[in-house]
Amino acid sequence: MPGLLLETLRGSSAKPRPVWLMRQAGRYLPEYRALRAEKGGFLALVYDTDAAAEITLQPLRRFGLDGAILFSDILIVPYAMGQNLEFLAGEGPRLSPRLVDTALAALSPVPERLSPIYETVAKVRAQLGPDKTLLGFAGSPWTVATYMVAGEGSRDQHETRGHAYRDPGAFQAIIDAIVAVTVEYLCGQIAAGAEAVQLFDSWAGSLAPAEFERWVIAPNAAIVTALKARYPQVPVIGFPKGAGEKLVAYARETGVDALGLDETIDPCWAHAVLPQGLPVQGNLDPLLLLYGGGASGGELDRQVHRILDAFADRPHVFNLGHGIGKETPIAHVEHLLSTVRQWRG
Ligand code: CP3
Repeated sequence: MPGLLLETLRGSSAKPRPVWLMRQAGRYLPEYRALRAEKGGFLALVYDTDAAAEITLQPLRRFGLDGAILFSDILIVPYAMGQNLEFLAGEGPRLSPRLVDTALAALSPVPERLSPIYETVAKVRAQLGPDKTLLGFAGSPWTVATYMVAGEGSRDQHETRGHAYRDPGAFQAIIDAIVAVTVEYLCGQIAAGAEAVQLFDSWAGSLAPAEFERWVIAPNAAIVTALKARYPQVPVIGFPKGAGEKLVAYARETGVDALGLDETIDPCWAHAVLPQGLPVQGNLDPLLLLYGGGASGGELDRQVHRILDAFADRPHVFNLGHGIGKETPIAHVEHLLSTVRQWRG
């Protein structure tokens, strides 16, 4: 019997709603901070497969969530494609050499950098109950490309959007290369025990409509097609953050099995315009969870119910609209989970 989360991603509307939280393994948890301090940096944790498996399981031990998401990062793909990767304290990730001034062909791929991740997946699956779903993930090609081209995160992806306009052929080659490695990487995660996978497109919102078609929809559709050819039973969750009204085309054209919604999306609008029966995931504002819904907590409960009620007639996985903030009090998470679990529509 698959768990509630996997059933929902496959189209069941069972209640109570399954729930997990993006970035649920991380710095808001004292047990994560303790292990991180012991092992050194973030990458050291990712490549210590026992530690990575333990971190993946930490939020389930504490909260009994319905899904575990592999502890890794979307930038492992560029790392395997041959870029150097560093996480600088307080500054975020750095990739070098940057593809804004270095040709893709100058990189020497290091595919062995993917194998330890599969080992983590297998270690987690071995410790996870049958009613819990193990989620694998990768970044979507556009979002991964923004880091590969600029070498770091940037406010409006200016350098990468510019690169794509100046030299669409070279940029297409970067996207195609990311698609190929991502397919291999996700197939490796599935073979090791991931039961569903999520594609994170954190910067999908910065593209104009024609560019959204070319750099978001087309590569995600290519990934979904390749995964379905090998693993037709494994649901793919697409999460094009900031896509707004372009979500409708994304849902129709990519072939994803479920759609992640960010907090800017009105759930009533989404329910009205998205294909009937398409599972959705989301979309509480992580900032509202951080602040606990104001002095009385009332606003948090109201928003949680608004989301649950809007999606009462379609498969729905409760989640945040983006990653949980590192200052979020544990008590707020506990309160949220009990509210979601009590709801029966
Ligand atoms: O719990 C989980 O969600 C699983 C693990 C996970 C991480 N990153 C761990 C992580 C997942 C799914 C990601 C995705 C990711 N990584 C995205 C897409 C989703 C999103 O948040 O938009 C992006 C853009 C990245 C790239 C990345 N990784 C950045 C920009 C940063 C630095 C900023 C930050 O939040 O610290 C990271 C580091 C990172 N990835 C941490 C974690 C737990 C923090 C590491 C630490 O300092 O301990």
